[in-house]
Amino acid sequence: MSLVLGLDVSTTAAKAVLLDRSGRAVATGAAEYPCRTPRPLWSEADPERWWEGAMSAIRSALRSAGVSGGEVEAVGPTGQMHGCVLLDRRGAVLRPAILWNDQRTGRQCDQIRGLLGPWLLEITGNDALTGFTAPKLLWVRENEPRVWGQTAHFLLPKDYVRFRLTGEMATDKADGAGTLLFDVAARTWSEEVMEALGVNPDWAPRAFEGPEVTGTVHGEAARLTGLAAGTPVVAGGGDQAANAVGCGAVDPGTVALSLGTSGVVFAPTGEPPSEPTGRVHSFCHCLPDRWHLMGVMLSAAGALRWFRDALAPQADFRELDAEAALVPAGADGLLFAPYLTGERTPYPDPAARGAFVGLTVRHARGHLVRAVLEGVAFGLRDCLEAMAANGMPRPRQIRASGGGTRSPLWRQILADALGAEIVSVSTAEGAAAGAALLAAVGAGWFPSVGEAAAALVKVSGAVPPGPDRDVYQNLIPLYQTLYPALRPANHALTASAATKPYSES
Ligand code: XUL
Repeated sequence: MSLVLGLDVSTTAAKAVLLDRSGRAVATGAAEYPCRTPRPLWSEADPERWWEGAMSAIRSALRSAGVSGGEVEAVGPTGQMHGCVLLDRRGAVLRPAILWNDQRTGRQCDQIRGLLGPWLLEITGNDALTGFTAPKLLWVRENEPRVWGQTAHFLLPKDYVRFRLTGEMATDKADGAGTLLFDVAARTWSEEVMEALGVNPDWAPRAFEGPEVTGTVHGEAARLTGLAAGTPVVAGGGDQAANAVGCGAVDPGTVALSLGTSGVVFAPTGEPPSEPTGRVHSFCHCLPDRWHLMGVMLSAAGALRWFRDALAPQADFRELDAEAALVPAGADGLLFAPYLTGERTPYPDPAARGAFVGLTVRHARGHLVRAVLEGVAFGLRDCLEAMAANGMPRPRQIRASGGGTRSPLWRQILADALGAEIVSVSTAEGAAAGAALLAAVGAGWFPSVGEAAAALVKVSGAVPPGPDRDVYQNLIPLYQTLYPALRPANHALTASAATKPYSES
């Protein structure tokens, strides 16, 4: 068999998928690992667990396909973006990785805005957000001087696994852009930005385009994973860019939406997007000559999971969906603000918080569920509006993926709230499938990522907007009053729960 392997180092698990030349997922493997919240607002993980998870996921995919590593022609890594792994001169990890959903760096974001001034948007293309990598580096410098003194390299999460597989320190340009240390238009590290922030440019890994080969699996890693020594490993892509490739969102005009823990609207562009307000992310895509705009909601399907875990622990998602389907659009006057873990787009605010607004004794559980599904859809609509304000034409069709889109009700609510036809894609394995397509290009199966996606990604199951579209047109302006109205109370509540000072032990 002739196969490629996509490997996703996600927040909660390593996932491996083997694709054959027709794009069929021949086998998958997965291994979960923990991430920790040792203090309020923190989110950390041990990179060694990622490597163990990756080894186990790869071995289990090979085993369930019944193939040997020699049949894998290339590996494409992807993973959670923005995390910060610090290594010393010998490549040893110096402290737990600080992850994309860590919110400790509000002060460092303000410092970066002050130090870079207009360069911030002109060069990096983005506002300084707590999730990004650069503020994490400044936090370590300020709070852990001993770790800082030993630092010789920083890596993104998937790139630490690449390092263990190949011995090479490399990244792709989508993940590079998510550090806030990248010149997004030039598609390379920005020495000016790094020097202005006091980050040594020699610490950065080499940046490659997604399908470029960055190294090969070395002998010891081959023994541990079952892959063959010498198998090429391509750059791959940060998870959102790789997921977009897996959905075929490669060229301008094809918009992808992902409804996982977070919710993302992803629009490829043919030129570096200029985003003067910094409300929408503007990053490099993981293929040559492509960039993208992206709106990110931090709690999307994660909001429904929270609801289930906190208020309906015995129920499964299908049961909740059925209850919500009996409730009319608008949930009989109930709105939900989905900012359960702070927000990024269009409100870059770690202190944003969630709320049900309009509750009465008439509301039952189905109303609450419907309000959650609608609140998330309205948040995604806010992302689209922020992108439209930046010149992006309104999409007529959106390619949707992620666990939340398994709900027919949620797909219909999305079509109605976004005013676009929602379609599903044939590549069900998300970012791992996209990374496998990048590996397929690296292996020489296709001349370009565009051709790989056109050949292997099919769309189906179109859901057009229905009559509830009008209800939502009237409701969305009301929803948009929630964040500004609740902001003062939420900021005061967040401040009253402030953390104690921290010092390196
Ligand atoms: C993208 C982002 C998340 C993480 C975790 O900007 O922060 O998608 O990559 O999946």
